[in-house]
Amino acid sequence: MQYSQKVLDHFMKPHNVGKLENADIEATEGSPACGDQVTIYMKVDEKTHKIDDIKFQSYGCASNIATGSIITDLAMGKTLEEAENITWKEAAEALDGLPPVKMHCSVLAVDTLQKAIKEYRIKHGLAEEDNFSKETIVEELKKVLYPKVGESIVTLKMVKYVGFEDGVATIDIEIPKFDEHRENVAEEVREHLEKYPEIKEVKITM
Ligand code: FES
Repeated sequence: MQYSQKVLDHFMKPHNVGKLENADIEATEGSPACGDQVTIYMKVDEKTHKIDDIKFQSYGCASNIATGSIITDLAMGKTLEEAENITWKEAAEALDGLPPVKMHCSVLAVDTLQKAIKEYRIKHGLAEEDNFSKETIVEELKKVLYPKVGESIVTLKMVKYVGFEDGVATIDIEIPKFDEHRENVAEEVREHLEKYPEIKEVKITM
Protein backbone atom coordinates (compact mmCIF):
# COMPACT_ATOMS: atom_id res chain seq x y z
CA MET A 1 0.00 0.00 0.00
CA GLN A 2 1.26 3.42 -0.98
CA TYR A 3 1.39 5.85 1.97
CA SER A 4 2.54 9.46 1.84
CA GLN A 5 5.70 10.39 3.74
CA LYS A 6 3.54 12.39 6.14
CA VAL A 7 1.41 9.35 7.00
CA LEU A 8 4.57 7.37 7.64
CA ASP A 9 6.05 10.15 9.80
CA HIS A 10 2.91 10.44 11.95
CA PHE A 11 2.60 6.66 12.18
CA MET A 12 6.23 6.12 13.23
CA LYS A 13 6.25 9.04 15.68
CA PRO A 14 2.64 9.88 16.54
CA HIS A 15 1.98 13.16 18.36
CA ASN A 16 -0.23 13.40 21.46
CA VAL A 17 -0.43 9.68 21.97
CA GLY A 18 -1.37 8.05 25.29
CA LYS A 19 -3.79 8.52 28.11
CA LEU A 20 -4.50 11.99 29.52
CA GLU A 21 -4.72 11.87 33.31
CA ASN A 22 -7.56 13.97 34.76
CA ALA A 23 -9.17 14.42 31.36
CA ASP A 24 -12.45 16.36 31.41
CA ILE A 25 -13.85 13.94 28.89
CA GLU A 26 -12.90 10.74 27.16
CA ALA A 27 -14.71 9.07 24.30
CA THR A 28 -14.21 5.76 22.55
CA GLU A 29 -15.48 4.83 19.13
CA GLY A 30 -15.19 1.65 17.12
CA SER A 31 -15.17 1.21 13.38
CA PRO A 32 -17.84 -1.08 11.97
CA ALA A 33 -15.65 -1.37 8.86
CA CYS A 34 -12.74 -3.08 10.63
CA GLY A 35 -13.56 -3.47 14.34
CA ASP A 36 -10.71 -1.19 15.45
CA GLN A 37 -11.05 1.31 18.29
CA VAL A 38 -9.88 4.80 19.19
CA THR A 39 -10.12 6.73 22.46
CA ILE A 40 -9.72 10.49 22.71
CA TYR A 41 -9.04 12.36 25.96
CA MET A 42 -9.51 16.12 26.28
CA LYS A 43 -8.97 18.87 28.80
CA VAL A 44 -11.15 21.87 28.02
CA ASP A 45 -11.04 25.38 29.48
CA GLU A 46 -14.45 25.86 31.07
CA LYS A 47 -14.59 29.59 30.30
CA THR A 48 -13.15 29.83 26.79
CA HIS A 49 -14.08 26.29 25.68
CA LYS A 50 -10.60 25.94 24.23
CA ILE A 51 -9.05 22.50 24.09
CA ASP A 52 -6.09 22.88 26.47
CA ASP A 53 -4.83 19.35 25.98
CA ILE A 54 -5.77 16.34 23.91
CA LYS A 55 -4.40 12.82 23.56
CA PHE A 56 -5.45 9.66 21.81
CA GLN A 57 -4.98 5.92 22.02
CA SER A 58 -5.53 3.76 18.97
CA TYR A 59 -5.93 0.06 18.36
CA GLY A 60 -6.19 0.84 14.66
CA CYS A 61 -3.87 0.64 11.70
CA ALA A 62 -1.17 2.99 10.40
CA SER A 63 -3.75 5.28 8.73
CA ASN A 64 -5.75 5.49 11.90
CA ILE A 65 -2.74 6.25 14.11
CA ALA A 66 -1.54 8.89 11.63
CA THR A 67 -5.02 10.49 11.57
CA GLY A 68 -5.25 10.41 15.37
CA SER A 69 -1.90 12.19 15.47
CA ILE A 70 -2.84 14.87 12.95
CA ILE A 71 -6.34 15.61 14.29
CA THR A 72 -5.07 16.01 17.83
CA ASP A 73 -2.47 18.44 16.44
CA LEU A 74 -5.22 20.29 14.57
CA ALA A 75 -7.61 20.36 17.56
CA MET A 76 -5.04 21.41 20.17
CA GLY A 77 -5.72 25.01 21.33
CA LYS A 78 -8.87 25.29 19.25
CA THR A 79 -12.33 26.04 20.64
CA LEU A 80 -14.88 23.22 20.64
CA GLU A 81 -16.69 24.97 17.78
CA GLU A 82 -13.53 25.14 15.69
CA ALA A 83 -12.51 21.55 16.45
CA GLU A 84 -16.00 20.34 15.61
CA ASN A 85 -15.49 21.56 12.05
CA ILE A 86 -12.47 19.34 11.42
CA THR A 87 -13.57 16.78 8.83
CA TRP A 88 -12.04 13.43 7.96
CA LYS A 89 -11.33 14.82 4.50
CA GLU A 90 -9.31 17.70 5.95
CA ALA A 91 -7.46 15.25 8.17
CA ALA A 92 -6.66 13.03 5.17
CA GLU A 93 -5.55 16.08 3.16
CA ALA A 94 -3.34 17.24 6.04
CA LEU A 95 -1.64 13.84 5.73
CA ASP A 96 -1.13 14.41 1.97
CA GLY A 97 -3.85 11.87 1.24
CA LEU A 98 -4.77 8.32 2.22
CA PRO A 99 -5.46 5.33 -0.03
CA PRO A 100 -9.26 5.10 -0.74
CA VAL A 101 -9.64 1.79 1.13
CA LYS A 102 -8.07 3.44 4.18
CA MET A 103 -10.31 6.50 4.34
CA HIS A 104 -12.61 4.79 6.86
CA CYS A 105 -9.68 4.80 9.33
CA SER A 106 -9.68 8.58 9.12
CA VAL A 107 -13.48 8.62 9.62
CA LEU A 108 -13.01 6.59 12.81
CA ALA A 109 -10.49 9.05 14.30
CA VAL A 110 -12.53 12.15 13.45
CA ASP A 111 -15.75 10.50 14.60
CA THR A 112 -14.17 9.87 18.00
CA LEU A 113 -13.15 13.53 18.26
CA GLN A 114 -16.72 14.60 17.39
CA LYS A 115 -18.09 12.21 19.98
CA ALA A 116 -15.75 13.60 22.67
CA ILE A 117 -16.85 17.17 21.85
CA LYS A 118 -20.52 16.21 21.93
CA GLU A 119 -20.17 14.33 25.22
CA TYR A 120 -18.29 17.25 26.79
CA ARG A 121 -21.12 19.56 25.80
CA ILE A 122 -23.81 17.24 27.15
CA LYS A 123 -21.89 16.74 30.41
CA HIS A 124 -21.55 20.52 30.89
CA GLY A 125 -25.11 21.39 29.96
CA LEU A 126 -24.07 23.04 26.68
CA ALA A 127 -26.09 20.61 24.54
CA GLU A 128 -28.78 18.02 24.90
CA GLU A 129 -28.80 14.41 23.78
CA ASP A 130 -30.00 14.17 20.17
CA ASN A 131 -33.43 12.73 19.66
CA PHE A 132 -33.28 9.72 17.38
CA SER A 133 -34.84 10.34 13.97
CA LYS A 134 -34.43 9.50 10.30
CA GLU A 135 -31.78 12.23 10.23
CA THR A 136 -29.70 10.19 12.73
CA ILE A 137 -29.73 7.32 10.23
CA VAL A 138 -28.66 9.60 7.38
CA GLU A 139 -25.81 10.99 9.51
CA GLU A 140 -24.62 7.43 10.20
CA LEU A 141 -24.82 6.53 6.52
CA LYS A 142 -22.55 9.50 5.76
CA LYS A 143 -19.82 7.62 7.66
CA VAL A 144 -20.09 4.55 5.44
CA LEU A 145 -17.56 4.84 2.64
CA TYR A 146 -17.48 3.11 -0.70
CA PRO A 147 -13.98 1.58 -0.45
CA LYS A 148 -13.18 1.82 -4.14
CA VAL A 149 -13.06 5.62 -4.05
CA GLY A 150 -12.96 6.38 -0.30
CA GLU A 151 -16.08 8.55 -0.43
CA SER A 152 -19.33 8.41 1.51
CA ILE A 153 -22.18 6.40 -0.01
CA VAL A 154 -24.43 9.41 0.71
CA THR A 155 -22.17 11.85 -1.14
CA LEU A 156 -21.92 9.39 -4.02
CA LYS A 157 -25.74 9.31 -4.14
CA MET A 158 -25.76 5.54 -3.76
CA VAL A 159 -28.41 5.83 -1.03
CA LYS A 160 -31.74 6.03 -2.84
CA TYR A 161 -34.12 5.78 0.09
CA VAL A 162 -34.05 5.94 3.89
CA GLY A 163 -37.10 5.06 5.94
CA PHE A 164 -37.74 4.55 9.65
CA GLU A 165 -40.98 3.22 11.04
CA ASP A 166 -41.86 1.09 14.09
CA GLY A 167 -38.18 0.40 14.79
CA VAL A 168 -37.47 -0.77 11.24
CA ALA A 169 -34.82 1.11 9.25
CA THR A 170 -35.23 0.59 5.51
CA ILE A 171 -32.31 1.53 3.29
CA ASP A 172 -32.19 1.27 -0.47
CA ILE A 173 -28.66 1.30 -1.90
CA GLU A 174 -27.79 1.44 -5.56
CA ILE A 175 -24.74 -0.72 -6.19
CA PRO A 176 -24.11 -3.07 -9.14
CA LYS A 177 -24.73 -6.79 -8.55
CA PHE A 178 -21.19 -7.66 -9.65
CA ASP A 179 -19.53 -5.00 -7.44
CA GLU A 180 -16.90 -6.64 -5.22
CA HIS A 181 -17.69 -4.25 -2.32
CA ARG A 182 -21.44 -4.90 -2.35
CA GLU A 183 -21.53 -7.17 0.71
CA ASN A 184 -19.01 -5.04 2.64
CA VAL A 185 -21.11 -1.93 2.16
CA ALA A 186 -24.30 -3.72 3.28
CA GLU A 187 -22.54 -5.18 6.31
CA GLU A 188 -21.11 -1.83 7.28
CA VAL A 189 -24.50 -0.11 6.97
CA ARG A 190 -25.97 -2.80 9.20
CA GLU A 191 -23.25 -2.44 11.84
CA HIS A 192 -23.51 1.36 11.87
CA LEU A 193 -27.26 1.20 12.49
CA GLU A 194 -27.58 -1.81 14.78
CA LYS A 195 -25.78 0.03 17.60
CA TYR A 196 -28.87 2.22 18.09
CA PRO A 197 -31.36 0.67 20.54
CA GLU A 198 -34.16 2.50 18.69
CA ILE A 199 -33.49 0.30 15.63
CA LYS A 200 -34.93 -3.19 15.99
CA GLU A 201 -34.37 -4.25 12.40
CA VAL A 202 -32.34 -3.08 9.42
CA LYS A 203 -33.75 -3.87 5.98
CA ILE A 204 -31.39 -3.26 3.08
CA THR A 205 -32.46 -3.47 -0.52
CA MET A 206 -29.93 -3.29 -3.32
FE1 FES B 1 -9.12 -0.37 11.19
FE2 FES B 1 -7.60 1.25 9.77
S1 FES B 1 -8.15 -0.78 9.29
S2 FES B 1 -8.61 1.67 11.63
